[in-house]
Amino acid sequence: MILAASQMRVRRFGRQLLLLGMLGMTALGSAWAASAVPLPRIISSHGRYELRVDGKPYVILGAQVNNSSNYSAMLPEVWPAIMDVDANTIVMPIAWQQIEPNPGQFNFSFLDRFLRQARQHHVHAILLWFATWKNGNPNYCPAWVKLDNSRFPRVVNRNGQLVNSLSPLASTTLDADRTAFVALMKHLKAVDPEHTVIMVQVENETGTYGSKRDYSAAADRLFNGPVPHRLVRALGLRPGTWRQVFGSHAADLFHAWNIARFVNQVAAAGKAVYPLPMYVNAALRNPFHHNPPLPYEYGGPTYNAIRVWKVAAPDINIIGPDIYMRSSRLYFKVLQQYHRADNPMFVSETGNAPVYARYLFATLGHQGIGFSPFGIDYTGYSNFPLGARRIDRRTFAPLSLEYHLLRPMDSLLARLSFAGRVYGVSEPDDRHSQTIRLGRWEATISYDMPMFGDSPYKRPQPLDGGAIIARLGPNEFLVTGVHARVSFSLVHRHSNEFVIFNRVVQGTYRHGVWRFMRVWNGDQTDWGLNFAARPQVLHVRLATY
Ligand code: DGJ
Repeated sequence: MILAASQMRVRRFGRQLLLLGMLGMTALGSAWAASAVPLPRIISSHGRYELRVDGKPYVILGAQVNNSSNYSAMLPEVWPAIMDVDANTIVMPIAWQQIEPNPGQFNFSFLDRFLRQARQHHVHAILLWFATWKNGNPNYCPAWVKLDNSRFPRVVNRNGQLVNSLSPLASTTLDADRTAFVALMKHLKAVDPEHTVIMVQVENETGTYGSKRDYSAAADRLFNGPVPHRLVRALGLRPGTWRQVFGSHAADLFHAWNIARFVNQVAAAGKAVYPLPMYVNAALRNPFHHNPPLPYEYGGPTYNAIRVWKVAAPDINIIGPDIYMRSSRLYFKVLQQYHRADNPMFVSETGNAPVYARYLFATLGHQGIGFSPFGIDYTGYSNFPLGARRIDRRTFAPLSLEYHLLRPMDSLLARLSFAGRVYGVSEPDDRHSQTIRLGRWEATISYDMPMFGDSPYKRPQPLDGGAIIARLGPNEFLVTGVHARVSFSLVHRHSNEFVIFNRVVQGTYRHGVWRFMRVWNGDQTDWGLNFAARPQVLHVRLATY
């Protein structure tokens, strides 16, 4: 029977992947012998990535709280939103000022309480280390750091003025940040044997607004010296000074190199005590306009600096884009820029307005290991126009529907994605249809269509459509989506060959196990497979006559 067959195939993929693992696929994390629960880690094979949590493939269906929600008094306004969106992972800042208010005196009481509550709510967590850089500035550093400019120097701009961003070249700053981060990771290791925390973001949107680099005398000396051999060799360039090697991009890439090296040393020291996967997030520059360059956050892991970051920061597993661009043209371009063979795709932040929710489908289509909208709590703050103007259950409804749809099958999707079998698309702003090539088949995904008939709606519907197709076998697919019509055709059709659904079965996953609900036929298949705004998952077997 069709369902049993597809289930068996899915199990077979699992065994194949296990075999791949035994045959020596790269492990970016190492096994954590001390605990019964395996350490979260990222594995890679053929330029694809899988996040493993509790020993199983995992997709981060994330929700990041607002910046100042990292205090116990706020948690009662955080959890209801996390539960409403049905996230499997809460993303929470831990601020340096909060854990080390005085040098060497650490306080982890918030973290301890937060972890207890995360477990009670059955979610995993990601911690954000807000320290030397938070959106480029040191405001989350303790007062003894951010007010002591002689010990922890700020960047100096071209005119000799101070900028509110710490210089990445000060070893005093690196030592202090690294010491605090190591204390955090040591504590986490001690209090979290079940690995509630699955990943840590090191710093937040690193870089500097308003100056391409540090122009202090010490920085100038380095800038006028040679580009480190390691970097020129990795990039396949000829040696020379920064200006000779990188021309007009020299200043910002010099800054990127220094920040990335700083961040890597913090991450490496943290991993040495507790090797969780670690990542950085990027405040993006416009993905199309690089010449002439528009101002952006210089030195961060923007697309032009990804290669420099990869060389300078090998202990950082992921560079994630923070995508606050509503336009589908820009969003799709950013996904392309950060989906690379050397970088797992993780949308580290995105807007919480309803129009962003649909981009989860395209993210998964880029073999995404996770998606995490920002500003998911009921503390009364809205970051409009980047995010939603009004924060309530209605605003979160599209995200909530998608997480509700995907959460019971996240492990299966992650496993299929790692095997290169998952495709996903999001409704573009102009609502044109998209095609996906699936062996001898082609799927067409169209939007703004009624469920019955072929004429598009007269009144435009909200932009919330998208679909995911997973290849289970040559003629067999797992198909799901929201407000989208999925139709299948043959790529090369003989004149006397016609496509027919052999069988379309709707079911649900419960903890990864498929349960039959009904067979779709008649009106439910005659106009293509029309997904409504409700959780619908189909196993589709195609045939010809
Ligand atoms: C991106 C930052 O990383 C977040 O911490 C937050 O400040 C948002 N921007 C606000 O839109």
